[in-house]
Amino acid sequence: MAYQPSSSRYEKMIYNRCGNSGLLLPALSLGLWQNFGDVDTIANCKNILHTAFDNGITHFDLANNYGPPPGSAETNFGKILKEDFEGYRDELIVSSKAGYTMWDGPYGDWGSKKYLVASLNQSLKRMQLEYVDIFYHHRPDPNTPLEETMQALDLIVRHGKALYVGISNYPAEKAREAFRLLKQLGTPCLIHQPRYSMFDRWVEGGLLDALEEYGVGCIPFSPLAQGLLTNKYLNGIPEDSRATRNLFLKEADVTPEKIQKVRQLNELAVARNQTLAQMALAWLMKDKRITTVLIGASKPEQVLNSIACLENLHFSTEELNKINSILG
Ligand SMILES: NC(=O)c1ccc[n+]([C@@H]2O[C@H](COP(=O)([O-])OP(=O)(O)OC[C@H]3O[C@@H](n4cnc5c(N)ncnc54)[C@H](OP(=O)(O)O)[C@@H]3O)[C@@H](O)[C@H]2O)c1
Repeated sequence: MAYQPSSSRYEKMIYNRCGNSGLLLPALSLGLWQNFGDVDTIANCKNILHTAFDNGITHFDLANNYGPPPGSAETNFGKILKEDFEGYRDELIVSSKAGYTMWDGPYGDWGSKKYLVASLNQSLKRMQLEYVDIFYHHRPDPNTPLEETMQALDLIVRHGKALYVGISNYPAEKAREAFRLLKQLGTPCLIHQPRYSMFDRWVEGGLLDALEEYGVGCIPFSPLAQGLLTNKYLNGIPEDSRATRNLFLKEADVTPEKIQKVRQLNELAVARNQTLAQMALAWLMKDKRITTVLIGASKPEQVLNSIACLENLHFSTEELNKINSILG
């Protein structure tokens, strides 16, 4: 049976304005970094995307190198869009990025105009799209002048291949410079995508202030620290978890010290009538500078569980202090 999106899909989701722009993004967005490559099953990919859209998640985040193999997440997403979301393109915000190694030779990496323009053309082909809604520079390039990288983002918008642009993994000062350049070019930066979770709070040291000052939105990635900030590792490392599957979260990252903290956080979450995943997501959303939180999921049930964080977003001062003392 062909997929029919739920008619109640916009009833429960919260939509937040992205910085000073006209664009509203759902409080939770879904990333396709993991679980959408050729190594994964298309039926599960479809179920995850259907569940997300049925519950008001309108924003899907990709990058040229997502897979494995690199590029396959975009190809699979493109096929699913064609088969199941035809007629719904205008209800979706699709993003892609370039900045990490993608192809051989000097033009398949970092931040030159040559690389960014060519990479986006390839991404559009893989996804069978005419444009992406947001195109990001994926990481700062120490060797390309920032002016050139920002000119490339501006050019891409002028060519109609992206509606908005963003940057990812830029530290505060470099981000400020990028915001100034983009503003001068007439293509204001829409959004910044940094890593941010209870276990990694670097953005609190200046980046969030810069985003507020320049009216730029924020979409934190790995908000659950790739699954550590959930109840899944409380009793060891389950067979079907990311820690057993790939290089980005290793079994060695699941340390006794981390699990000790996770245990205490989990107790607090239970007292709040939430799962730890829900508390970790709500904790990010308490800061009004956070536009949308970018989750990953290996199963549709995880999407549903994470979305239910919206049922309890309030934290007392006592709870916040307790969390700070657990995190140390
Ligand atoms: N800009 C960048 O440089 C960058 C870097 C990394 C990621 N990202 C973006 O951020 C997105 C999210 O990153 P992420 O996947 O690391 O995010 P995450 O939400 O921190 O981790 C997702 C993993 O947590 C587990 N999980 C999710 N929901 C759960 C729940 N409710 N209960 C229990 N476990 C749950 C699953 O692990 P299992 O697989 O073990 O089931 C899932 O694969 C990526 O897809 C990508 O779009 C961007």
